[in-house]
Amino acid sequence: MKVLVVFNVIEQLERGPEEDLFAEQETVLVEQFIEQALQSHGHITAPVPIRDDLWGPITRYDPNEWMIFNLCESFRNKTYLEPYIISVFEHLGFRYTGSDRRTLATCLNKARAKEILQAHGIPTAAYQVFTPYTIDRRLEFPLFVKPVSEDASIGISQKSVVHDDRSLRRQVRYIWDLYHEPALVEEFIEGREFNVTILGNDSPRVLPLSEINFRHIANPFARIVSFRAKWVPTSEEYLKTPPTCPARVSDSLKTRIEDVARRAYQAMGLRDYGRVDIRVKNGLPYVLEVNPNADLSPDAGIARAARVAGMSYADLADEIIRLAARRNHMKGFARPRIVTYELKARSAGSDGVYSIPVSALAPDNPQATLKRLRSVQPAGVAA
Ligand SMILES: Nc1ncnc2c1ncn2[C@@H]1O[C@H](COP(=O)(O)OP(=O)(O)O)[C@@H](O)[C@H]1O
Ligand SMILES: [Mg+2]
Repeated sequence: MKVLVVFNVIEQLERGPEEDLFAEQETVLVEQFIEQALQSHGHITAPVPIRDDLWGPITRYDPNEWMIFNLCESFRNKTYLEPYIISVFEHLGFRYTGSDRRTLATCLNKARAKEILQAHGIPTAAYQVFTPYTIDRRLEFPLFVKPVSEDASIGISQKSVVHDDRSLRRQVRYIWDLYHEPALVEEFIEGREFNVTILGNDSPRVLPLSEINFRHIANPFARIVSFRAKWVPTSEEYLKTPPTCPARVSDSLKTRIEDVARRAYQAMGLRDYGRVDIRVKNGLPYVLEVNPNADLSPDAGIARAARVAGMSYADLADEIIRLAARRNHMKGFARPRIVTYELKARSAGSDGVYSIPVSALAPDNPQATLKRLRSVQPAGVAA
């Protein structure tokens, strides 16, 4: 298959601190990994960087010949313009991987996304939305304050956890001044945090759960994934929030988390792949946010979960293409390989029913299959 790997390139930020650029430049690196991965599965690829001109670079290609692997996260440095890129794909008649523009737009507005989750009866933290001029607190402290429409932990630090009205006002003002948007103020969910990777469309499959290991942080209010924890590998925050995949969870908790995550994925209309962030309080999983087209870096949550399930990075990229092709009823393409399969799970108490590629079970080379299953690593960067 011929695949255009479309990604956005950002040279400079318009707002927010300089370090936010880390998060924004990630797609440039991921593009190279995805191209390599697709090529290793025999796909012909072409990179399409998007800078200021959105139409020009894409109109050169024939939508009947090429499919788009969409890695765009913003346009003209604006995250909220991300869905517009997809409108152009659709306008030009391209088929593309991942969620459509409506899903992206709704998930980008976390308050709107929470309204939808609530309407579906999916637990999510109680919340209010404030600008510095509309603060009318009804929720009880401690609270968590974040920009209503950013991702990648942008605008999130230890100061996001507030215990009194003064710091609440300060943080709402900070977000307003720096990001020019309202703040989403939520009840602080004290408890374990999980990233749940899901692949698929009609019957989405949950991959092995990943947990943020907060064991090295004593203060429960410091147990958060701040911007530094996500993006600055040398920071204390980063080093003290390692992921554990597969997570050690009881059967019943695992089932509850998977169920809530899958329902959130479907309620928000995600396609092909995504990640649901969850925190568990008193045994009840609360959805923090739903991430359509979530980070596909080889060292990020989706690739890690896939690897634990026996799916290499290259298989993951190929699987996403297969899912998108099947969803578009494209003829002549291989079926997605995910099948439910009994993985000899190492997560304590897990029933071990995960999705893995059929290729891992391929009968033509049982030795290679066994070797591959044994070599599944819970962490690591290389595919
Ligand atoms: N209501 C909350 N209670 C406790 N921690 C939270 C809450 N909301 C967010 N966090 C912490 O902040 C991190 C980032 O928040 P999230 O909503 O996932 O935004 P982002 O899109 O930036 O990833 C989470 O991973 C979690 O550690
Ligand atoms: Mg998140």
